[in-house]
Amino acid sequence: MYWIGVDLGTSALKLLLVDEAGAIERSASREYPLLFPYPGWSEQEPEQWWNALVTGMHELLEGVDASKIAGIGVGGQMHGLVTLDASDNVIRPAILWNDGRTDRETEWLNTVIGKERLSTLTGNIAFAGFTAPKILWMRKNEPELFSRVDKIMLPKDYLNYRLTGVHACDYSDASGMLLLDVEHRCWSREMLEICGVETGQLPDLFESSDVIGTVLPEVAALLGIPACVKVAAGAGDNAAAAVGTGTVTDGACNISLGTSGTIFIASDRFGVDPNNGLHAFAHANGAYHLMGCMLSAASCNKWFCEDILHTADYAEEQEGMEERFGKNRVFFLPYLMGERSPINDIDARGTFVGLSMDTTRRDMVQAVLEGVAFAIRDCFEVARSIGVSVERSMLCGGGAQSRVWQKILSSVLNIPLDLPKTVQGPGYGAAMLAMVATGFYPDVQTAARSLIRVESTVYPDPDTAKAYEAAYRRFDLIYPALKAFYKECKA
Ligand code: XUL
Repeated sequence: MYWIGVDLGTSALKLLLVDEAGAIERSASREYPLLFPYPGWSEQEPEQWWNALVTGMHELLEGVDASKIAGIGVGGQMHGLVTLDASDNVIRPAILWNDGRTDRETEWLNTVIGKERLSTLTGNIAFAGFTAPKILWMRKNEPELFSRVDKIMLPKDYLNYRLTGVHACDYSDASGMLLLDVEHRCWSREMLEICGVETGQLPDLFESSDVIGTVLPEVAALLGIPACVKVAAGAGDNAAAAVGTGTVTDGACNISLGTSGTIFIASDRFGVDPNNGLHAFAHANGAYHLMGCMLSAASCNKWFCEDILHTADYAEEQEGMEERFGKNRVFFLPYLMGERSPINDIDARGTFVGLSMDTTRRDMVQAVLEGVAFAIRDCFEVARSIGVSVERSMLCGGGAQSRVWQKILSSVLNIPLDLPKTVQGPGYGAAMLAMVATGFYPDVQTAARSLIRVESTVYPDPDTAKAYEAAYRRFDLIYPALKAFYKECKA
């Protein structure tokens, strides 16, 4: 038997074909553009996700005995607002997780409704990227379009809908809408009222490894797969990545260095950070997690190398960097799209600090890698401050492939980082959810125990960790000094 795991990412859709031993037999990926119609806005066309799925699937399955495919699971970028009309046509481009247009709505929710009330209802406060502020934005700014909204969906749920005709959502992804009572795993009636949304406009809720339906006959014909293929509810990409790295036991941690940077701490019990600096969301294994999310992580390195330095040879840019660990006098704040965790400031911007006439290109590339690591450390400090201490972590995502970045992060956090054998976090986790959904494994924990192996571990270097400790203290002085400046620039 085979299972297909799909990762609906921000820059590309990736597909994996996984066999009974959990081996990745084949993979395919398709890129699509990210649209920035105004500064701070971020959108994508759902139809492009679907086209990527269809063409990627054709490549994935070329020469494969498709009759052996048992199930499909999708993990996807979270929080995006996809709106459908009564005929299930997409009304406007999806507004994505890293879109910052909703500062007024976010502020209104946090001050007028109040953080305490929001936290009681949902376990979380409002962040600009969450779905509820986007719904309020659309209601106010696009009333004609909003009046046509029949269904509100998240990105991966749109793909699941196109596959099965079923409007479904899993608890991990639904957590990021700010409409879910996360602890009790149901829609919050009061939050729906606040946002002017009817229950009927929202999808039905499922656990991530539940089957939501089978592939529609016409879609099966289009994709070249049997119509009996089951589709799992799937998960938000971070919960899917946590499954794909085996982060499913109480206290286990996964760090993802993707377009966004996240720390994900699994928890058997529902718990809320009293300051709401970390998100309190449902996990894809039926339990919960705390998460810190940086809006720009590996994307900072991509931006600096590709857009500014005009090179895609990241290894060349990082060569010899280890000798200079902890000695860099240049700092970089990685807030290219504003920032979510922990500073929650959509006006913050990427900033180099400490340049001098002897600053080199290498110093600046290194500052970018270090700045992302320091910002992840900020999220760790929040976890520590509420008594959650992380002694080691899994590491996944595109940025995790850099040996240099692995070492920087390990020394900045001063913990060992485990690299899984299968590095395709969300896609692999999504395939595992499909394996559970089709009964091949009884539950997510068993699937993780059977399939996830650590390939290698990166340990912090004591001298480098000491130097980075001092550098981190300096890094943490920069944002407070510039906060008013960012606000002024926006005004
Ligand atoms: C998590 C978040 C991002 C997206 C991007 O809260 O916003 O990690 O899921 O993939």
